[in-house]
Amino acid sequence: MNNSLCEMFGIDVPIFAFSHCRDVVVEVSKAGGMGVLGLARQDPARLEAELDWIDSHIDGRPYGVDVLMPSRLEETGGRKLDLDGLLPQEHIDFVRDMLDEAGVPRLPEADEQDIKREILQGMNFTPREGMELLDLAMKHPIKVIVNALGSPPPELVAKAKARGIRLGALAGKPRHALKHREAGCDFVVAVGNEAGGHTGDVTSMVLWPAIVDAVAPMPVLGAGGVGRGRQVAAALALGCEGVWTGSVWLKTVQSEVTPEIKQKMFDAEASDSVWTRTVTGKPCRTLNNAFTRAYDADTAPDPLPAPLQNYLWWQEGRTRVERVRAHDFLTYPVGQLVGDMQEETTVKQVVYEMIDELLDARDRMNRMLG
Ligand SMILES: Cc1cc2nc3c(=O)[nH]c(=O)nc-3n(C[C@H](O)[C@H](O)[C@H](O)COP(=O)(O)O)c2cc1C
Repeated sequence: MNNSLCEMFGIDVPIFAFSHCRDVVVEVSKAGGMGVLGLARQDPARLEAELDWIDSHIDGRPYGVDVLMPSRLEETGGRKLDLDGLLPQEHIDFVRDMLDEAGVPRLPEADEQDIKREILQGMNFTPREGMELLDLAMKHPIKVIVNALGSPPPELVAKAKARGIRLGALAGKPRHALKHREAGCDFVVAVGNEAGGHTGDVTSMVLWPAIVDAVAPMPVLGAGGVGRGRQVAAALALGCEGVWTGSVWLKTVQSEVTPEIKQKMFDAEASDSVWTRTVTGKPCRTLNNAFTRAYDADTAPDPLPAPLQNYLWWQEGRTRVERVRAHDFLTYPVGQLVGDMQEETTVKQVVYEMIDELLDARDRMNRMLG
């Protein structure tokens, strides 16, 4: 393709894939796109092992990492936040009672502390934790770092530039994209409201061209609702240089999603992807479930601010739910694209079908436009 991002990274197609799963990252890059591994939920030892594995399986193809890094490094100080003391009892009780009433067994007392410690280990909320993971990642041949919580801080920009690593950042508004450009990013990701995970309130159709115009000629990746070639064509038609995708990989055999959650996704409609603060404390799209619905009750507390709600859900909810695979409560971040997920497929097939449909869309447009 005659495309600036393909040139920038030496990739065949400007299809970027965000995933928490190393297998997806490797397969997307091997299929000609760019796999990007999410560093949230990683601890240093596990990350080292994951990156070693990627390096030995990716056949020298480019890949990157995505980090949740606040823009001001001095914002928080210490290594681990003392989250335990910060959870109000009312909220703990709310989740406990909800799961007790639904018959979801409590964690065995003997294991509870170990389980909590393990959860905390994988929660990296402070800038220093994010930077530690990135320092480790930069010892591997990563080609791109994408920042999810604001513009990359100057320390990160300096380190990345010194190593020839390109930088991008997620934006939900044109003014965020302009800040990313000022901070030194090489491209921005315009994330529409229909996307899985954290999103702003503006939909892709409106957001993408607005951000493209705001930061031109800087390349923009369109994100939110891209799972097939016609949607890639739409992104290119709206001025994006490529796409950034997340939800579509969840349906693949390679994905980290358990068979039960995958089946729930196959049974879901687009509107079963709900935009809620109940999972992390920030507006986030996830698969609707009994936990999210419980917060609709008049007696429910308001979700806690991030990252506390996220910690509450993992510590008091998710671990209990997933241990016994309590169906009504099973959930995972996913965008409105979930309504278009019907069956399991492979990463390679998704990429190849995207390219085929993109070319068909181009031919159709050419025929129509004469
Ligand atoms: C399961 C899942 C987890 C996600 N976790 C993160 C994350 O840790 N960091 C991040 O920058 N984006 C995360 N996202 C959002 C993606 O980066 C991306 O913006 C989004 O998936 C694009 O929209 P789509 O889901 O419609 O493809 C996640 C998305 C999904 C589906």
